Amino acid sequence: MALFDTLRPVLHLLDPETAHNLTIKTLKYMPHKHQVDPQSLHIKLFNLDFQNPVGLAAGFDKNAEVPDAILNLGFGFAELGTVTPLAQHGNAKPRIFRLSKDRAVINRLGFNNDGLTPFVARLKFRFLNGGIIGANIGANKDSQDRVADYELGIKSVLGLCSYIAINISSPNTQGLRALQEANALDELIERCLAARGASRTPMLVKIAPDLNDSELEAIAAIARARQIDGLIVSNTTIDRSMPLLSRQAKESGGLSGQPLMHNSTMILSKIYKITHGKLPIIGVGGIASGADAYTKICAGASLVQLYTALIYKGPGLIRQITTELDTLLLRDGFKNIAEAVGTAHH
Ligand SMILES: Cc1cc2nc3c(=O)[nH]c(=O)nc-3n(C[C@H](O)[C@H](O)[C@H](O)COP(=O)(O)O)c2cc1C
Repeated sequence: MALFDTLRPVLHLLDPETAHNLTIKTLKYMPHKHQVDPQSLHIKLFNLDFQNPVGLAAGFDKNAEVPDAILNLGFGFAELGTVTPLAQHGNAKPRIFRLSKDRAVINRLGFNNDGLTPFVARLKFRFLNGGIIGANIGANKDSQDRVADYELGIKSVLGLCSYIAINISSPNTQGLRALQEANALDELIERCLAARGASRTPMLVKIAPDLNDSELEAIAAIARARQIDGLIVSNTTIDRSMPLLSRQAKESGGLSGQPLMHNSTMILSKIYKITHGKLPIIGVGGIASGADAYTKICAGASLVQLYTALIYKGPGLIRQITTELDTLLLRDGFKNIAEAVGTAHH
């Protein structure tokens, strides 16, 4: 951890994508450390025992290169990917921008990844290590049948991960977000559930923060009718209406980090309300402290994830968040995370 605190000023002198690749390389050689989380942070969901509710969001380890190093940093779970059936380069560089003054990032990577074959091989190689690993799957940009890409992704990772996240909310693959529209979503989920077959691997859908109330109602109704296991709320935003100080704010792509906190939490709160708290939600978008994580939990998230704050605060942030969460639960008289979920609505 201290190593990353020393390295961070150097990493921030590099362009964001080079800094990211160097971080992944360094993580491969990190020593393994065992840490025990307070009992109050344990939560059972999808029949999985999470040691703490703070996960790493998708996009950091797109190729499943360092899942165990991520878990060793103190995350309760790690979501790998997005992986698409075939390897693809993604959009032209530069395609990641730091908005340091806003504690934010804009990315328009466009699902750059090595494809399913190495992803699956790496999952097989580390399978016996355990830990809670999500596989986030997507579709290739040039695919003739995008739903078939999701079916193949599901069949390939079944049995090798703890849950599957269906990503239909990246703003950087043209037309992908259209899969969130009611008819398209219903067909997608029907086919994805069929691809899952008799397996009980939980299947969640990751949605955008840029959805209006009627779109949210339609998604919630389909999620309920098709009995998917949960929603991940949310991906990055294409909205730029919030005040942003950095000159990079005009770059196109998905905005993440602090400016996303409010909208993504609003959407999560609405979904919780519409579904009467019956559909598990993973809350993600702008979390940079224990208080932020707690806000999402009280708004209705059973688990949370983060990515961008890690760029600004380093891996020491994870322990800071879990410690703060424990203190906040105690302050408010909750014995555990499960008791706090959705309490902002009471
Ligand atoms: C550089 C970068 C790449 C990302 N790539 C993916 C991805 O491949 N799949 C995905 O579902 N989300 C991806 N995301 C979105 C994050 O998983 C997360 O939903 C979003 O960044 C909001 O969380 P944050 O504010 O804590 O970063 C990416 C985010 C960033 C910053």
